[in-house]
Amino acid sequence: MKISLCMFKEGMSMERIVIEGRHPLSGSITIGGAKNSAVALIPAALLADGICTIKNVPNITDKDALFDIVKHLNCEITEDNKAIKIDSRCLNNVLITQELSVKLRASYYFMGVLLSKYKHVEIFFPGGCNIGSRPIDLHLKGFKALGAKVTKRGHKYTLDAEELKGAKIKLDFASVGATINIMFAACMAKGRTIIENAAKEVEIINIMDFLNKMGAKISGAGTDTIIIDGVTKMHGAEIDVIPDRIEAGTYILMGALLGENLTVDGIIPEHNEALFNKLTEMGVSYQIDKNSVTLNKTDSLKPVDIITQVYPGFPTDLNQPMCVLLTQANGTSTMEETIWENRKGHYPSLLKMGAKIELDGNKATITGKTDLKGTEINATDLRAGAALILAGLIAEGTTYIYDIDYILRGYENIIHKLSQVGAKIKIEKI
Ligand code: EPZ
Repeated sequence: MKISLCMFKEGMSMERIVIEGRHPLSGSITIGGAKNSAVALIPAALLADGICTIKNVPNITDKDALFDIVKHLNCEITEDNKAIKIDSRCLNNVLITQELSVKLRASYYFMGVLLSKYKHVEIFFPGGCNIGSRPIDLHLKGFKALGAKVTKRGHKYTLDAEELKGAKIKLDFASVGATINIMFAACMAKGRTIIENAAKEVEIINIMDFLNKMGAKISGAGTDTIIIDGVTKMHGAEIDVIPDRIEAGTYILMGALLGENLTVDGIIPEHNEALFNKLTEMGVSYQIDKNSVTLNKTDSLKPVDIITQVYPGFPTDLNQPMCVLLTQANGTSTMEETIWENRKGHYPSLLKMGAKIELDGNKATITGKTDLKGTEINATDLRAGAALILAGLIAEGTTYIYDIDYILRGYENIIHKLSQVGAKIKIEKI
């Protein structure tokens, strides 16, 4: 097949995902550890004066990017299957270069960690998917409230503190990253820190559990008020990464579209309550068991209206994959994005495949049921890429997805997991 040059993007992988559509999915897919937990737990391990073990770490490229930073800071890191050991006793608190900082959004967690432990950090503005401007003002405001001085030169940030003192910090927005980063910075501050309007995502509970096992004194994660009583030092500990509710949701949506007894295993069902509520509204047939859900394709899907919200609302990270299901509903649905101003990268590709979508600002009106047709499309960010895979799986004919690095950042072994349950999907060199 002739490849149109427009498909190539500077610096992206010379591979593409090829999908032959309309094959039913049956069997069992096991969910890995949560990306958005793991990318905070790995930096958190550097708070310890000792060795930490993190189990059930997902096999994704964001993990590799963090490993590069941990090694750059002269920490030892070993990996055995899905368990990693990090020894931070020889940590050398050097500048985290721009090349390392921009590899992912979560590089900013080293700010809170190194500020907490050394009262000094030099790092650059983080990277991350292109879904909005992604400021870090709330993180910096929290650090300043604890007593840090922040100097910004271009994209480089230097943070210094004589000492860090507990403070009452009310977040203007329930930011996941700022909540976690301020928790890190407050762990060894003098006195009590209270974070109000804290994010309530379940990954934050996972991180609090790890910090408390390391000797921190934190309570309230999962609620909108988190209390941290500073300690003088932290020691090595062990933690399990919780299951990835966004990976799970992505495969659950595939089951709603193509399942013939497709079981998504190793989940915590209540973490996906908002998604299940919408699937019920649409008439999707599924059976939830203790740690799994089994789905069967439903032919007559009802349209729904969705507004993304902070946890426990409908997660912004499932907006794009969910849009593909909405193209298959009989009638008009809406998807309104309230968290990120640019979570729209999937729309051009879905339109090119034949979807009927009208966009008004951050609200899409999606009319179904439309038959999607395979073609050449580009991933623009992690969750847009996931949506394109869902679209390719249900499309007539063959779909070619370019810029697949975005997808491999956050979905471990996705080609293998889908092939195992009957999808005709592969990665090929261009
Ligand atoms: C985390 O990003 C996740 N990433 C995102 O998942 C997820 O979409 C997001 O939380 C919301 O759930 C990781 O955990 C690595 P935020 P984060 O701070 O922490 C504004 C994925 O696909 N904001 O809760 O960066 C911001 O602009 C990724 O896995 C500020 O204004 O999200 C946005 O509008 C994508 N100032 C809103 O808050 C700040 O200092 C949510 O941001 C920080 C955030």
